[in-house]
Amino acid sequence: MIIMSEKLENSLKHWLESISSIALLPELEKVKSELLGKSGIVTTALREVSKLPIEKRKIFGEKLNNAKSSIEEAIANQISKIKRSMVEDKMNSEAVDITLPSINESFGSVHLLTRAMRQIRDHYHARGFLVLDGPEIETDFFNFDALNIPKHHPARQSHDTFYIDGFDEVLLRTHTSCVQVRTMLKTGIPVRMISIGKTYRNDKLDSTHSPMFHQVEGLVIDRNSLTVGHLKNELKRFISAFFETDDVAIRLRPSYFPFTEPGMEIDCRCNKNGGKLTITKDGADWLELAGAGMVHPDVFKHCGIDGEVYGFAFGFGLERLVTLRAGVADIRNIYDTDIRWLRYFRSCA
Ligand code: DAH
Repeated sequence: MIIMSEKLENSLKHWLESISSIALLPELEKVKSELLGKSGIVTTALREVSKLPIEKRKIFGEKLNNAKSSIEEAIANQISKIKRSMVEDKMNSEAVDITLPSINESFGSVHLLTRAMRQIRDHYHARGFLVLDGPEIETDFFNFDALNIPKHHPARQSHDTFYIDGFDEVLLRTHTSCVQVRTMLKTGIPVRMISIGKTYRNDKLDSTHSPMFHQVEGLVIDRNSLTVGHLKNELKRFISAFFETDDVAIRLRPSYFPFTEPGMEIDCRCNKNGGKLTITKDGADWLELAGAGMVHPDVFKHCGIDGEVYGFAFGFGLERLVTLRAGVADIRNIYDTDIRWLRYFRSCA
């Protein structure tokens, strides 16, 4: 019989004190089973208490149960203390000094196209233009009809269009000029906006063509007079900013776009020396940069704008400008995932 004698009480006190000095989990488990296991000291004593007469059972029972709770609590505390210190040890031994300089000097870079898009956006933003988006999947109303290119107009043929299977009127937009239409229909006058985005034409991929390419579209509309002079000024400023030079001379060459009257191409003086392009007023060559013009009155009509109104618009291909600026001869190289191109583009920053 080991019921709650003074000897047992002392022994349990002793066990209890020793728990807080145990540092290893298996050792603690061993003590736990010696005390509280099936044939552990406390369990056995409790079993024997039940055989005592009622008064003794009460006194000893209470003492034993208290001792049991204290032991359980002490063991649980010690387990979490050991676990915490294990985590701390691991954190100390695996600590990384994040202030140390990097060994790997090869950082990523922003792609040429992305960099140009950000630059164009910032340029026009600073000039008070809204930068708007439009959907890449369009209807032929926004892509053609509203822009004065009706169903059988020959101009449609030059836009080799991808239609969505099963829908005669739904297509991948062939230019960003649709965003002009969407803007006119949605916002009031005045308008000062650009849109940068993807466009699609059924062209074979070669050194200067891609079935997917990017365009930048600009539109300015006002009730006050706007002239070709304003258009010229806006484009000259842009070329100056994009090629980072004030040495810019441009010319306007008559051209035809159904949505402009008059329509024109914008060229810029340059020198092309063996693929290396320099924009300069004294250049011997001309570089075609953009299509532009004064907004055709019919376009205003299709877009629900009437009364006295003036507007100019322009549009250019992004890949062309980007490849020219970076001295990349083949458009395919800027879509290539070859790491050597990506490294080269970084050096063009
Ligand atoms: N949308 C024309 C194209 O894809 C480019 C263009 C020409 C846009 C004249 C214009 C413009 O806004 O006025 O070739």
